Parts: sequence; C-alpha cells; structure tokens
Amino acid sequence: MSPIEQVIINQKTNVNPVWIMRQAGRYLPEFREIRKKNTDFIKLCLNENLSSEITLQPIKRFNFDAAIIFSDILMLPYGLGQKVEFEKNFGPKLGELNLSEITKIDEIDFVKRIYNIYKALQKVSSDPILNNKNTIGFVGAPWTLLVYMINQQSPKKELKKFFFNDDFLINRTLLIIEKFLKIHIKQQIENGANIIQIFDSWAGLLEEKDLPNYVYSPTLNLVNYVKSLKVPVICFPREIKNYKEFCDIVKPDVVSIDYNVDPKNIIKNVNIPVQGGLDPKILLSDKETLKKETTKYLEIFKDHPYIFNLGHGVLPETNPEMVDYMTQTVREYK
Ligand code: CP3
Repeated sequence: MSPIEQVIINQKTNVNPVWIMRQAGRYLPEFREIRKKNTDFIKLCLNENLSSEITLQPIKRFNFDAAIIFSDILMLPYGLGQKVEFEKNFGPKLGELNLSEITKIDEIDFVKRIYNIYKALQKVSSDPILNNKNTIGFVGAPWTLLVYMINQQSPKKELKKFFFNDDFLINRTLLIIEKFLKIHIKQQIENGANIIQIFDSWAGLLEEKDLPNYVYSPTLNLVNYVKSLKVPVICFPREIKNYKEFCDIVKPDVVSIDYNVDPKNIIKNVNIPVQGGLDPKILLSDKETLKKETTKYLEIFKDHPYIFNLGHGVLPETNPEMVDYMTQTVREYK
C-alpha cells in the first residue's frame, strides 16, 4: 500500500506522505522550458507526451508521493465547447456561456474533445517511477466551474452583482456540469487515476446561506459518485469558514485545508484524514522559517492521519530549492 493509501485507508499517523498543489508548473525551469515553446496552454494540456512529461517532472525532482495530472479544471468547459483561453499575466478568459450550444454536447463529443488527458493518465500511471505512489486525477467543484463559466474570468475577490440574476441559467448549467464531471471522473479513473481531488477554489465567495445549494449538495453528489467507483476522494473547499460543517455533510475521505485554517482547531473538529495547510508564501522566506513552519504542521498532526501539502498552489516565484528543503524536512521528521 502506498504511503498516501496508508494514511487514507489505514488512518496511519506515523507516515507523512507529501505532494504539493500546482507542483507541475511555472516554478520549475524544466516546465518553463517546455511552456516557452508551447504558447497555447490548452494544446499543451492535450499533448499527451508533453503533459505526461510535465506531470512527472516534480516526481523526478522531489520524489513526491503522488503525481497530479497536468491539466486544468477549465478543461471541463472546454470539453463542453465553451471557448477557454489563457492569457499571459491575466489568467483564464472564457467565451460567452451559450446554454443551447452546451446542451447539444453529448458524452461522446465531450470525451473526444479532451481524450488526450486520459491518454496522458495512462502513460503517467504506468510509469515505473510511480511504483508505490499515487496518480491523482482532479476536477473543479461544480460551484467553482459555474463561477468561471458565468463570470468568464477569475472573480478575484467578489462576484459581479448580476451573478445570481438568471436562476434558470444557473440551475441548468449546474446540472450539465455535474453530469459531465461524473463522466470526466470516471474516465480519469478508468485510465489510471487512483485518487480524485475536487478543487472548490471559490467556495469562500459564498455567503453561509448559499453553501448548501451551491457547495454541499453538488459536491456531496460527486463525492458519493467517486466513492461508488472505489477510489478515495479529497476535497479542497478553499476559504469556507466552517470546515467541520463541510466534512459532516459532504464526508470526503480527506479534507485539504487552506492556510487560513487553524490546524489545531481542525484536529478537534474533524475525524477524517487532513491534507495541506502550509502557506505557500512561506516558501518565499528563508530556510529557517520554512523548517519551523513545516515542523509546526507535522507536530500538530503527529497523532492525526495527515498528508503534507500547501494551503493553496505553489507560487510561480518559488525557488525549487526551497521545495526540496521542505520535502526533506517532512521526510526526516520522526
Ligand atoms: O497541480 C498541478 O500541478 C496540476 C495541474 C493543475 C493546473 N491547474 C495547471 C495550470 C491543476 C490541479 C490546476 C487546477 C486549477 N486551475 C484550479 C484549482 C486550484 C487553485 O489554484 O485554486 C483553478 C482555479 C484553475 C484555473 C486556472 N488555471 C487559473 C486561475 C489559471 C491562471 C492563474 C495561474 O495560476 O496561472 C490557470 C492556469 C494554469 N493551470 C497554469 C498551470 C500550470 C499556468 C499556465 C501557464 O503556464 O501560464
């Protein structure tokens, strides 16, 4: 059993597996080298030779316990035929959401449009470098995808006033998202993913009263679906105020915490394995601070099943040497 499975399935507390969100990306010179020559991000995600190579870059460098497939949560709207582009220094830009167009897409069209992600998963998961390690497939949570599909770009700090204006559009789109997320999850698992992580990056934008409708209920449906396929599921409901309520209702196998969560509080409140927490900005400080903060998390979770990770994605300006130092600190902790 891999170290991550020992934590999730056997609730072991004396193993400390480690990987980091956005581990395959811009902080690595070997990624930037490939990216420079491949200016279209979507095409890069759909190039199974390059995307599988990028997926394995951080494993080769840091010997992480899991590879997360190099793709993006926005491959779902792309698969549905909505225009998706990534602009330098701006982030994702989506075309207008056209309900009558996306309603026409069926399972076969969708899978065809993004099939190379599954080919990349096959390649990655069969690579001997991942012996005794996991291959993580992922999706955006329905709410976070809805935000991008309607807002057409990152919402930054708040939603536009008109966001909730069109109930019909929102409810229909959520149903379509859920249907195709299930297809996308199943395909990832059939092609080699043995853990699924659900990223709800914008859960924190909602008021408490809207969480059941937009976060709890649609995420619970997906969590139950992943469980029915006998694969563990990790949820990352970034910046929600009440992680306990989320875990009580949604019941993921693992909850990934953001860096605003008090780790001491979380062990009192949830009885499932925990992942993450360390503020990615700590990697921009010095080795002494990094060692102290890394050890702090390991100490707090020494009697709780725990997967070491960050409280959000690693920042592009991070020095890979600091990631190496952090990983060593986790490995050497007894
Ligand atoms: O973790 C990994 O290494 C696997 C690959 C991965 C990417 N995106 C590649 C990527 C994963 C798991 C994601 C998830 C993702 N994508 C999320 C959820 C996690 C989070 O950060 O909250 C979100 C919200 C997105 C949407 C997205 N994709 C944004 C907002 C951006 C632009 C901003 C940014 O961070 O660059 C992207 C682009 C993106 N996705 C890049 C990478 C490596 C950078 C592309 C580039 O090279 O320019």
